[in-house]
Amino acid sequence: MTDHACGPLAPCLVMLTPADGTGSAWTVAEADPRQPQILVTDQGLTRGDGLFETALAVPDDAGHLRVRKLEAHLQRLAGSAAALRLPVPGADDWRAAIETALRGFAAHARAAGSLDARGVVRLTATRGPEPAEERPGGASAWVLVSPAPAPDPELRDRGLDALLLNRGLDSRSAERAPWLLTEAKTLSYAINMAALRHAREQGADDVVFVSADGQLLEGPTSTMLLARRDRQGRRELVTPLRRQGILAGTSQAVVFAGAEAAGWRLGYGPLVPADLLGGQDARVEGVWLVSSVRGLMPVRSLRGEGVDIPQLPVDAELTATLEGYLRQDLPAGPHGSASG
Ligand SMILES: Cc1ncc(COP(=O)(O)O)c(C=O)c1O
Repeated sequence: MTDHACGPLAPCLVMLTPADGTGSAWTVAEADPRQPQILVTDQGLTRGDGLFETALAVPDDAGHLRVRKLEAHLQRLAGSAAALRLPVPGADDWRAAIETALRGFAAHARAAGSLDARGVVRLTATRGPEPAEERPGGASAWVLVSPAPAPDPELRDRGLDALLLNRGLDSRSAERAPWLLTEAKTLSYAINMAALRHAREQGADDVVFVSADGQLLEGPTSTMLLARRDRQGRRELVTPLRRQGILAGTSQAVVFAGAEAAGWRLGYGPLVPADLLGGQDARVEGVWLVSSVRGLMPVRSLRGEGVDIPQLPVDAELTATLEGYLRQDLPAGPHGSASG
């Protein structure tokens, strides 16, 4: 293995390069993350025209780094590529690149004495340089593995203060205007980052988007989950329906699979802010934002858009139960089966 000195100071990088003009074969090679690899004319940079996936690699029982929910990530990537009409490496090429990058990352982690290192695995594909440029066409694709940030236990204990922000689109926009790509994980995340900055300027920790017609959607980098218990004591886990213009969360899908196996009922919205208060028929037990790297973060308050819920239940035991479903990593079932 070539030593590109990846480790704590530089991520491990593996480039995937089209082997010919057909787009069906890709070569996989380690590269130096401290050297330029992408042309400044790449449309991923100039237009945000590309896609990405962010996954978490954790050591398995034998101490080998394994990407959680890898198949769900590769499936979502293929869906994003289809929505963007973007030629990307096939699943086997991605798997080979991930394996190479993880091997490098694990070797450097071991050399640094870290036996339980967790890695953020980022898969990126762009449309490549402008066709009119000297070096024409051809997508760029790469895998980057860097150390995963340590979770913030204090924030997980106390829960997030979330700001409700209007996304400016109604819950039918995704159907009417599929070019908005609300269900693809594209590189155009400036809006999501702007929403998070706005929330922090307002003293909040995170954001929950609401549609122009008042339906709860998702966070800028996370999926929303709600746990409730009905009068018969039956537990239900609910998430907004994907068709309303949100990204298909791989974490949500896997948590749902674990919850269903444990006897929970599953629900797929629509959810409005008032549902977070519960009612006569059901008691709300918790609300979370979930994503691959950060895992489950309880939400302790929600305000904005005329809504003020100062106190939501934060139940560490329930968070741990749902985290357990995430760790089980069961194959994801169909989304939306309960309500279409
Ligand atoms: C907009 C959006 N929704 C949901 C998620 C959660 O997806 P996953 O659980 O696959 O990480 C993400 C992840 O970054 C996201 O960007």
